[in-house]
Amino acid sequence: MSTHKIAVIGAGGKMGMRVSNNLVKTEHTVWYVENSPAGQQRTTDAGRELTEASVAVADADIIVLAVPDLALGPVSAELVPLVKAGAVVLTLDPAAAYAGLLTTREDVIQAVTHPCHPSLFLQRQTPEEWADTFGGIAAPQDAIAAVESDDPAIQQLVEDTVRAIFAPVIDVHWVTIKQLAQLEPTLVETVACMIGALLNEALNETINTMGVPEAAARSILYGHTQVALANGLRGDNPFSDACLIAMDYGRESIIKDDWKKIFQDDELDKNLARMLHLDEITR
Ligand SMILES: NC(=O)c1ccc[n+]([C@@H]2O[C@H](COP(=O)([O-])OP(=O)(O)OC[C@H]3O[C@@H](n4cnc5c(N)ncnc54)[C@H](O)[C@@H]3O)[C@@H](O)[C@H]2O)c1
Repeated sequence: MSTHKIAVIGAGGKMGMRVSNNLVKTEHTVWYVENSPAGQQRTTDAGRELTEASVAVADADIIVLAVPDLALGPVSAELVPLVKAGAVVLTLDPAAAYAGLLTTREDVIQAVTHPCHPSLFLQRQTPEEWADTFGGIAAPQDAIAAVESDDPAIQQLVEDTVRAIFAPVIDVHWVTIKQLAQLEPTLVETVACMIGALLNEALNETINTMGVPEAAARSILYGHTQVALANGLRGDNPFSDACLIAMDYGRESIIKDDWKKIFQDDELDKNLARMLHLDEITR
């Protein structure tokens, strides 16, 4: 694999630290940029040297913007004019790119990536893989990427970077920026993470309101959550007849009939506007 010149902006943040921890293990040339004192401290505590943003981006092949989504507009406005022609600006979430908040340039390529996180069905082998639920440390994961260029060299640069920052990576799946926004937030945050939080609320209700012993409630929920996902997502076993009736009651009581509207373009825009603290998306 060829080596690249990579600038990480926001190197001391949550994702910045994760991607930097992986980049130090590679042969790539990496510059670390961070503007908050706490983030600067985390970067230097990890043994990494800080570089001024203007210096870091000047010769970088790819600039990873690991800053909060709300900062991506101003940070891209400041840095995109400084990058070299042909460079790639990579964000780690599609919201700002899809909402048209990023400063763009004819000769600069916009790309977005997002880690899939290790699959529920991953055949983990080691304690480290079991402990790594987020990914990027020990458990292999896939990643999604979108790049606004047909140039194979640019796609390779993005893929090499994605494989390095989220390592260990199994597959990189290529989609459009809009499709990435349909995946994340809609599919995985609006639906999957919401259901994860709902499970926790239901667990608390069972324990705190109904008075069921906590150990019993957690144990049966954790096991049944695996069965629900293995049967629901992979068809491992059929749900029992009684379970199907209880599931129908749950759907009627909890889910709105028109819930699939969340996938419509106008609803995606509303969701993104809320996430980006905007009144509306105007692209
Ligand atoms: N946190 C997650 O689990 C997660 C997962 C996937 C993708 N992402 C995406 O990663 C990106 C970063 O999110 P995060 O959660 O790591 O944010 P964070 O708030 O933890 O870190 C952001 C860092 O950027 C720094 N920063 C802000 N403005 C800067 C500037 N102008 N120059 C240099 N540094 C600057 C901040 O000081 C901070 O250290 C976002 O796009 C987010 O959507 C986050």
